[in-house]
Amino acid sequence: MTILGIESTCDETSVGIVKNGKELIANVVASSSLMHKKYGGVVPEVAAREQVKVIIPTLKESLDNIAPDNIDAIAVAHGPGLVGSLLIGVECAKTLALVWNKPLISVNHLVGHLAANWIDDKRRIMFPAVGLVVSGGHTDLIYMESHNKTKHLGGTRDDAAGEVFDKVARILGLPYPGGPEVEEAAKHFKGKSNRLFPRPMIGDMGFDFSFSGLKTAVANLVKIDSGKSVEEIAYEFQEAIVDVLVSKTARAVEKFIVNSVVVGGGVAANGRLQEKFARNFASLNIYFPAKGLAIDNGAMIAAAAYYHQNNIDPLKLSANPSLYF
Ligand code: KG4
Ligand code: ZN
Repeated sequence: MTILGIESTCDETSVGIVKNGKELIANVVASSSLMHKKYGGVVPEVAAREQVKVIIPTLKESLDNIAPDNIDAIAVAHGPGLVGSLLIGVECAKTLALVWNKPLISVNHLVGHLAANWIDDKRRIMFPAVGLVVSGGHTDLIYMESHNKTKHLGGTRDDAAGEVFDKVARILGLPYPGGPEVEEAAKHFKGKSNRLFPRPMIGDMGFDFSFSGLKTAVANLVKIDSGKSVEEIAYEFQEAIVDVLVSKTARAVEKFIVNSVVVGGGVAANGRLQEKFARNFASLNIYFPAKGLAIDNGAMIAAAAYYHQNNIDPLKLSANPSLYF
């Protein structure tokens, strides 16, 4: 079964085509992230106006190597996200489903981030698993009994992991999006960690996160004349946030006795996070999305749709900005 998936929840506009939830046929991604650089974060109106412009060319390019006749269903991320952005993808998907007379599948964007891991991965998926979604808007731990049977364990009480990377970058004078910039700066620090920053809620027995205190600790250090370089602060911050993510995931792994750990969302592209997960969960199957599939993309929506074929009436689907697990 070949599914065309549309993603437009934030500042990316993307159309991906995936066969049987695994085989990548196309994944075209347009991003307006450069347009938000001077604001240090996504400006919803700017993102949505750009998406109106690029959605049709993106769709057209995704169909370069496959005819619409060979597509079996249309999928779309209908939430969570920015309402103006979501509407563009949702209305496009509904139109395609009606005009091409194909089934329509609505996908939770967060589930899509986890499904990015099944694309082009040759392993048989081993459930149960613990899923960690770390994106610009979310930090969530999920227990996955199967593709369709999941339980939300906990999430952030304030800032999301990616959001904190972006805000810390801004504090350090690095451009948006901050995650890759902080990671790059951290690579240039050659000393060893002095544990400059707190690991918030690391000793808490639950599965919730809180990162705003960590962000404030970075801001406070930058305010005083500490003599620490941007590279060192970036490194220390990254160590702190990665330690929390590893430790909370480890607690879930121990409690639920799982076979796999599945990580998704833009922050999953972070090399240090991947390194520490590989070290800490060596006895489990560890999934990180392939290059280019961690950030928002249409292919992950098409992959998730294969496992969640809900066949929604195109006339009834609406965007849901606050959709959750
Ligand atoms: O999943 P995503 O593309 O969009 C949302 O659904 O929010 O995630 C974007 C987030 C941004 O906050 C960005 O700074 C972060 O992912 N990010 C990273 C890295 N690449 C992207 N954070 C840390 N390290 C990275 N290499
Ligand atoms: Zn996302």
